Amino acid sequence: MNTAIYYFSATGNTLTTARMLRQLLPESELFPAAELMNLPRVEAPAGAVGLLFPVYYGDMPYPMRQLISRMVFRPDSYLFTLTTWRGHEGDAPLRVDQLLRTRGARLSLALGIPMPGNSFINPPELDREHLQLQRQRVEQLAPRILAREDSFKPRDQLLPLSPVGAPKNFRGLEAEGSCTGCGLCARLCPMGNIEIKDGRAIIGDSCCTCLSCFHWCPNEAIWMSREPSVARRSKYHHPEVTAGDIAACRGQGPAH
Ligand SMILES: Cc1cc2nc3c(=O)[nH]c(=O)nc-3n(C[C@H](O)[C@H](O)[C@H](O)COP(=O)(O)O)c2cc1C
Ligand code: SF4
Ligand code: SF4
Repeated sequence: MNTAIYYFSATGNTLTTARMLRQLLPESELFPAAELMNLPRVEAPAGAVGLLFPVYYGDMPYPMRQLISRMVFRPDSYLFTLTTWRGHEGDAPLRVDQLLRTRGARLSLALGIPMPGNSFINPPELDREHLQLQRQRVEQLAPRILAREDSFKPRDQLLPLSPVGAPKNFRGLEAEGSCTGCGLCARLCPMGNIEIKDGRAIIGDSCCTCLSCFHWCPNEAIWMSREPSVARRSKYHHPEVTAGDIAACRGQGPAH
């Protein structure tokens, strides 16, 4: 293997980006962060190591942070990030680099592409454009990985964005009466934070706010009820991705 691609995805933007990258980088393999993050130790293979994730609040999602904290890198590992985001990646690569340094490694290249937002909403024409240009954008970035570009510049100062700390259901995600207890959200939750009790989903507090449950519920039963501006936003997922694909990234079904 030349490139190991570790990824996290809730609504498919990053999963499809990872699949496209796998096609463009010879001898590359995909590894889902949500499946590996609870292992005590994850040894990165020799060669290039990619960390692909959606930006959350200018930071990496908790499952990616948890995975990197357990990874062991080789001295000659070549590390890159490829983020997906709606508006701005903020300090996500910088925070990854800071975390990597605690593991004796460092980031060499930070790449990113804009995609439809799964938290706040873009104008529909902008989302269409991002989806249409996704493959072309990934194709433009892949040669920089193949060339082992080493251009990431660490900075001491962080932008004034809140980093993602301990997981917490601060949005107040909650299943309403239309929940049938089908259990899909529990299979998709990367944090094991949803239980089905008495035919209804109960969402706990160990939440990385990925919104998988919110977007994939077939009955639209989950509300972001304490955020009036987004509580009833339209549901989104990448058109080439199914709930089964996301379940597979959680170790809950056949691989991608
Ligand atoms: C909790 C949360 C926070 C987010 N924060 C940001 C952000 O800071 N900047 C940004 O541009 N997009 C942000 N987004 C949008 C996602 O990064 C973007 O839609 C991403 O492509 C989703 O990837 P996925 O489909 O692989 O899950 C956020 C999304 C969520 C759910
Ligand atoms: S996916 Fe929706 S309907 Fe199914 S258990 Fe979860 S909240 Fe209920
Ligand atoms: S409860 Fe929902 S938003 Fe929170 S981690 Fe689980 S799937 Fe993601």
